[in-house]
Amino acid sequence: MATLESQPPVRIGRTQTIIDAAKTAYFLVNNQIKIKPGDEVLIACDTMTELEILQSLAGAIQAAGAEFTICMQPSRSPKDAAKLTKIIQRGAGAADVYISWSNSCGATLYSQRERKEGQRWFAAPMRTLEVYLGPAATSNYQYISDICERLQKMLEGTKTIRFTSEIGTDMVLDVTGMPWEVEDGGIRGPICFGDGEVFTSHTGHSADGTLYIDGPLAYIGVPDEPIKLTVNKGWITKIEGGRAAARLRRVFAEVSNSNYLCEFAIGVNPWARRSRFFEEEKKGLSNIHTAYGALQRFFRPYIEKNLGTTALQKRLPGIHADMVSYDLTIWADKKLIEDKGKPMGDWWYPPPEK
Ligand SMILES: [Fe+2]
Repeated sequence: MATLESQPPVRIGRTQTIIDAAKTAYFLVNNQIKIKPGDEVLIACDTMTELEILQSLAGAIQAAGAEFTICMQPSRSPKDAAKLTKIIQRGAGAADVYISWSNSCGATLYSQRERKEGQRWFAAPMRTLEVYLGPAATSNYQYISDICERLQKMLEGTKTIRFTSEIGTDMVLDVTGMPWEVEDGGIRGPICFGDGEVFTSHTGHSADGTLYIDGPLAYIGVPDEPIKLTVNKGWITKIEGGRAAARLRRVFAEVSNSNYLCEFAIGVNPWARRSRFFEEEKKGLSNIHTAYGALQRFFRPYIEKNLGTTALQKRLPGIHADMVSYDLTIWADKKLIEDKGKPMGDWWYPPPEK
């Protein structure tokens, strides 16, 4: 696990950050997205996307012989989190490469947009400049992909996931027949930023227990005290804690049916720090994330089959938001996957130097 102490200092503001940002931009453009001369690249962003991210990406795209277009829409609250302007929706259909980098919400990634045949897309919503400058941005994806594949193989066919923590989490999920998906930076999964996770959803029949959120949450940040969630049949029915818990209660009140626990994911990236940004922390080795809100596309056919079309529609509110928890002990049926955040079993081996 990389620590904040092992990194050079970063100060955000009117400094020369653009110089440091160039390294990440060149890595993403050339190694990950693999932009080619002549590509037309659309960067879809919002008013919260830092200028250094946009400038460094545009510069690296231009240096690769491609052309960039930057489209900026207003930032969104959780209530409007799925709202993409019609201009971006339509314009996306003309791009060879579509880069999703809205920082207030995931609209540029998750919302409906036109797509061109053969279009490549790069998913990086809600990644801040501090994460962009951090070590996870330039991860070794051969290693990440290998670890993801080994873990995915170990999890396939699992009927029950149980995970517990010392602060009181004790959850049981029925995952019988559900697929395990990977996000490995683009080698097998979508091209993503600072990546590395293996994830699934429950069957809709049972996901029950107590879940503590002690890491950062989308839209909310680091909680002032761990949030205690009570989950019944996949629905979060009770929220206890301090100010962050109160904010989460307001999100659930504003967006109907958003209190559905829709994802369970195991982070595998050893370069992702505990940096207080959920998009970095959720990929970190020894962290898990769960999400509330809309089911991802991979799981929808299964829920439709298990529970019917009306039940599926109820599980697609206009928000999908991640919540990080630390140091879990995880069982897949009788197999121990992690012990208090430490990887167990032969899916894991130490990372190489980058
Ligand atoms: Fe995830």
